[in-house]
Amino acid sequence: MSKEVHYSDYLQLDKILNAQDMESLKHGVNAHDEMLFIIIHQSYELWFKQIIYEVDSITEIMGKPELNDKSSDLQTVVHRMNRIIVILKMLVNKIDILETMTPMDFLDFRDYLRPASGFQSWQFKIVEAKLGLKYEERYGQQYYISQLRDEQVKMIKTVETARTLLELVNGWLERFPLFDEQLYWKNYKASAAPVKGIHPFWNDYRNIYEQGLMEGEKQNASGLTEILSGDGSNNAGFSSKAKRTALFILLYRNFPLLHLPFLLLNNLVEIDEQLSTWRFRHVNMVQRMIGARTGTGGSTGKDYLKGALEKHYIFKDLLALNSFLADRRSLPVLSPELENKLRFG
Ligand code: HEM
Repeated sequence: MSKEVHYSDYLQLDKILNAQDMESLKHGVNAHDEMLFIIIHQSYELWFKQIIYEVDSITEIMGKPELNDKSSDLQTVVHRMNRIIVILKMLVNKIDILETMTPMDFLDFRDYLRPASGFQSWQFKIVEAKLGLKYEERYGQQYYISQLRDEQVKMIKTVETARTLLELVNGWLERFPLFDEQLYWKNYKASAAPVKGIHPFWNDYRNIYEQGLMEGEKQNASGLTEILSGDGSNNAGFSSKAKRTALFILLYRNFPLLHLPFLLLNNLVEIDEQLSTWRFRHVNMVQRMIGARTGTGGSTGKDYLKGALEKHYIFKDLLALNSFLADRRSLPVLSPELENKLRFG
């Protein structure tokens, strides 16, 4: 008979609960808040591990050549993304707990930590890299390389070269059979005369969109034209083809077939938003704790973090599509064949 499982053994509590070594104690100093500081960081790392686990399972599904939009696969992807979002929201709120430590409490032990820093959280960098943040896109690349151990840099670089979630979603959007299928468009009643290089549907849509622009927004029209007529790919983001499909999904999401794809795209934007909210709360906390001093990891502190906050959006191409939406009432009427497909799959 197999041995009974015991709570403590199952969770390996002897390891976890004995892993809080306060540096201050080693220096014979009583810095009460160091325990909180350690436990907060350890719990963040555990949750990063869970996020990586979920992202891996999502990329595995999205990487299937036979991924079927009507199968439960897509539901699983959306469900796991929802879980990541809930975890991220909790991680944002956990900053409240650490902020019960005052700057003076922090100073009691801060100097003993040098040069350790959240900077060296390779799991955080792996989360970003698995989602799709590339090395070339990172703010302050020199810090990122210099602070990590060689094996950690290697690990992150391996992740960067594997297919990221962004790339997989890009491929999935490109394969979406909406515009390549002649049947869906042969009975489409275009309102405007055809224009070379732009699908008649998108040509109509562009006219509708342009009519809705305010005086100071007219330059937006060229951004939309670029998406509608482009066929190039973008190394760090979505290709024009993928963006067109994503835009179509945003516009016609009320059709049952587009509902899950919409939730998937919406979740990506939400993940980005929660990550950046975390960055924002983190930089505010840093400012509150150490003011304008440099970080223990040697960066410029809040300035570095603000740069990363601005630059590390991963699904910014999806976010940008929201500038190109027109109201539902004025959308082009689709062909009966396409409507039928989108209603019943
Ligand atoms: C007293 C609280 C904290 C302070 C003063 C602080 C300070 C800093 C500073 C100054 C940096 C920039 C790098 C450097 O020069 O060190 C940094 C980076 C970072 N910190 Fe914190 N931190 C705090 C709490 C936390 C917590 C609780 C986490 C949770 C894991 C965390 C995770 C990170 C991460 C992931 C980075 C790298 C961000 C990036 O490269 O974009 N920090 N922190």
